[in-house]
Amino acid sequence: MIVKESRVVILTGAGISAESGIRTFRDFDGLWENHRIEEVATPEGWEANPQLVWGFYQQRRRQLFDVEPNSGHRALADLEEYLDNFLLITQNVDDLHERAGSKNLIHMHGELSKLRCESCASVEEMMEDEHLGENFLTCKRCEGRMRPHIVWFGEMPMRMDEIQEALLECDVFIAIGTSGHVYPANGFLHTARRLGAHTIGINLDPPENVVFFDEFFQGKAGEILPLLVDRWTNG
Ligand code: APR
Repeated sequence: MIVKESRVVILTGAGISAESGIRTFRDFDGLWENHRIEEVATPEGWEANPQLVWGFYQQRRRQLFDVEPNSGHRALADLEEYLDNFLLITQNVDDLHERAGSKNLIHMHGELSKLRCESCASVEEMMEDEHLGENFLTCKRCEGRMRPHIVWFGEMPMRMDEIQEALLECDVFIAIGTSGHVYPANGFLHTARRLGAHTIGINLDPPENVVFFDEFFQGKAGEILPLLVDRWTNG
């Protein structure tokens, strides 16, 4: 189904990082690392209690030092090496795809490793030890307060124009480790499919939109992906 010339778009969600030890969102009664989503992942939550939200994301950042990419992340980097036309879109804010070697990558929900100024919108990298404390950081340009460079509920995902264009042109669309609950990522499957792309799903549990996949593989991404990528890249 996949050859070197195929235009492949991949969407990943929390499930691909689960085997690295990062918890998914919807497996624990709607709590994210013991917090209600509205408390730590909305602009209203940030307004109401910025110190709590800041501390929460600092913890998530420190966790990145304790985790490593797994065989699922690495298989996707191998697939990218093989293909001429590949785009990886992730809903994850961790950096495990890039650490595994993925290059053409869009973090549609933002990145833990970056901050954005609330006043001038400039974006800065911030994973040095001196950045990871409990005090707010200020912008190097204008001294405004920096916020997490994360797309919260109610905010617009990043780089949607590029994503849309790639979806309209792709031959194969693959969704991995995502529950299909969150708009607009859960609509990518339909966009790609409508224009004739072959659609493949890989997930531990059947996701919301499972009936729309041409092929569905149930199980762990870290076990299934290396086998599939080996099959695709070795004919
Ligand atoms: N391999 C494959 N799939 C897995 C694995 C695994 N090892 N472990 C768990 N899964 C599956 C679960 O069965 C579940 O369907 O991954 C999915 C994770 O779903 P969610 O926790 O809902 O995560 P995701 O779809 O990425 O959430 C989307 O919601 O909270 C927001 O912004 C946040 O980006 C996130 C978005």
